[in-house]
Amino acid sequence: MKSEKYELLREQIRALIEGETDGVAVMANVVAAIHETMGFFWTGFYRVMPKTGSEDASEKELVLGPFQGPVACMHIPFGKGVCGSAWQRKETIVVPDVELFPGHIACSSLSRSEIVVPVFSPSGEVVAVLDIDSRELATFNDTDRRWLEAICQLITCVR
Ligand code: SME
Repeated sequence: MKSEKYELLREQIRALIEGETDGVAVMANVVAAIHETMGFFWTGFYRVMPKTGSEDASEKELVLGPFQGPVACMHIPFGKGVCGSAWQRKETIVVPDVELFPGHIACSSLSRSEIVVPVFSPSGEVVAVLDIDSRELATFNDTDRRWLEAICQLITCVR
């Protein structure tokens, strides 16, 4: 059931973003499609950007990008929270209970479980992460991980 929904969603997203070269436009519509179809609590991207206020151009942080849902924190350091950890580890993190994830950043006290999926550049660098929050415990499993990774692989124009 979940898989069939994701399969249709992936095809919808593939058609939606085909030929589009603006990263923000793509992220905005990908977020809207996922959020509307799956009915999640919060769906959004954080982009890897130069660190605000830093003189060292190589210093990076995650900055809030297109999202749907309640307002969220805007800057996340490398290695911090679920998002910063997924960026550091270069892999998807599924969190069944956010209270049990050391260093979890609570943007909303209503969020109970979470999944964060990295978006990679062609050279294998993390350029953004897709973060999805749920108001229920243990919403996300390996099916979500596989399909959301497949959706993130369609995004090739974010830099
Ligand atoms: N919980 C995330 C922060 C982003 S909000 O959930 C939208 C984290 O720990 O990285």
